[in-house]
Amino acid sequence: MILEAIILAAGEGVRMRSTLPKALHTVGGRPMLAHVVEAANALGPAKIHVVVGRQAGAVQAALERALSDQPYAGQGRADQSRAPSKIIDKINWVTQEKPLGTGHAALQAIPAVNRAATVLLLYGDTPLISAPTLRPLIAAAGNPPGRLGLLTAEMDNSTRPGPAGLGRIVRDDRGKVVRIVEEKDASDAHRQIRECNTGFIAAPAAVIEAGLAKLDNDNAQKEFYLTDIVAHAAAAGVEITACRPGTVEETLGVNSQADLAQVERIFQANQARDLLEQGVRLRDPSRFDLRGYCEFGRDCVVDVNVILEGRVVIGDRCAIGANTIVRNSRIGAGSVIEANCVIDDAVIGARCTIGPFARLRPQTELDGGARIGNFVEIKKSRVGRGCKINHLSYVGDSDVGKGVNIGAGVITCNYDGAAKHRTIIGDDVFVGSGSQLVAPLAIGDGATIGAGSTITEGVAGKTLAVGRARQITVDGWTRPAGKRK
Ligand code: UD1
Ligand code: CA
Repeated sequence: MILEAIILAAGEGVRMRSTLPKALHTVGGRPMLAHVVEAANALGPAKIHVVVGRQAGAVQAALERALSDQPYAGQGRADQSRAPSKIIDKINWVTQEKPLGTGHAALQAIPAVNRAATVLLLYGDTPLISAPTLRPLIAAAGNPPGRLGLLTAEMDNSTRPGPAGLGRIVRDDRGKVVRIVEEKDASDAHRQIRECNTGFIAAPAAVIEAGLAKLDNDNAQKEFYLTDIVAHAAAAGVEITACRPGTVEETLGVNSQADLAQVERIFQANQARDLLEQGVRLRDPSRFDLRGYCEFGRDCVVDVNVILEGRVVIGDRCAIGANTIVRNSRIGAGSVIEANCVIDDAVIGARCTIGPFARLRPQTELDGGARIGNFVEIKKSRVGRGCKINHLSYVGDSDVGKGVNIGAGVITCNYDGAAKHRTIIGDDVFVGSGSQLVAPLAIGDGATIGAGSTITEGVAGKTLAVGRARQITVDGWTRPAGKRK
């Protein structure tokens, strides 16, 4: 069987009230459309035709970016194999100049579809759809394909999602599907129908092509409805088989910000459940967000309101404190990240202690056993084994050796207003509190910098450098007295 997918993502998304094309609104940090493309791809299609409209170039570029961020091995749903470069090669971008309806969108793609293929039609605004739900739908079209498979779900006002806004499945006396009625065109009787259209259809290319050729826009929305191909197929004697999704939630379409928020919560709950199954202790799975991919070692504990973004790899026995954000970083085994830290594009060795309230900026590399305390910012720096930078410091563009102690309030002055310069600090250096190290600068192994120094010249190893005004003491000094009122 040859399978080809058509994904419709050219709608205006008016109900989102946003300038961003709907397909690019993110779920779990990635465009909705990327999730749908991946679900379709997991079924092994020969081609994926994606219909885009407004800002087509931006949608295409964002998708290519999103599909090239390969997860770490072992991550992601087992059945949704992600092979990014291959996905991109399978995509045929199709433009729909004007959003004249879902049927009109599908019509733009159909000329490029293999006549012998089974076609799977998907909407780009249903990011929770999974391959296990789609497989029986494709099977329903037959092999070789001859039937029309329709994914429908029973909904009423007590279910979440409910039937509001969805097409209703109309059956004849014998229970055969005869057509889909859009809610805006539905009579009160039709609105009582609980079986709703989820929007997924699988059928032979010829059946879809013939149905699309007969579409008109004589309806409440003056649009060419894709859903009308069902009536045309039924009239032509094509057998129509309805399938049910694994969970109704999977079929949730995102039309508004409220829908998007609901879908995001479901997506996050699913990810949290997977992590719990892998043995990660999430103190509250409903207060954990993963916007990308992560890998955890054994016996890790994650406190509430932690956000992981991009690709995050966490070793065995790590603890992440409340309200911490970790983005594109690696954390070595046994490290503890206290509450309220922001860790961005950093590599943290084993048994480090970070925070609370620390900020590690891009290209920070900490060797094992480093201790980074509160209100410390580190950027583009390497910090050696066992260093302590415990309070209120800024270390930027620096190489810090092993066993260095940096006192409270030390600043590497890395920027002269025009260029950035490096600070090289040798092993076992002690930098007294409140010092400024004016780069470019090198401090030799074992050197000591007296507290409150402004160091502008290189310091040799094993020396003491003090760069501050000498203290004077004035005997019998009396403070100026203010005028009393
Ligand atoms: C659609 C279905 C409805 C179904 C529901 C399920 C139609 C007419 N209605 O309604 O039966 O119950 O989905 O979620 O199909 N699009 C285009 N070009 C267009 C219009 C839309 O590409 O001209 C795309 C949109 O970007 C979107 C998808 O098609 O990804 C669905 O369009 P949308 O307007 O959201 O349809 P619904 O009103 O949700
Ligand atoms: Ca929709």
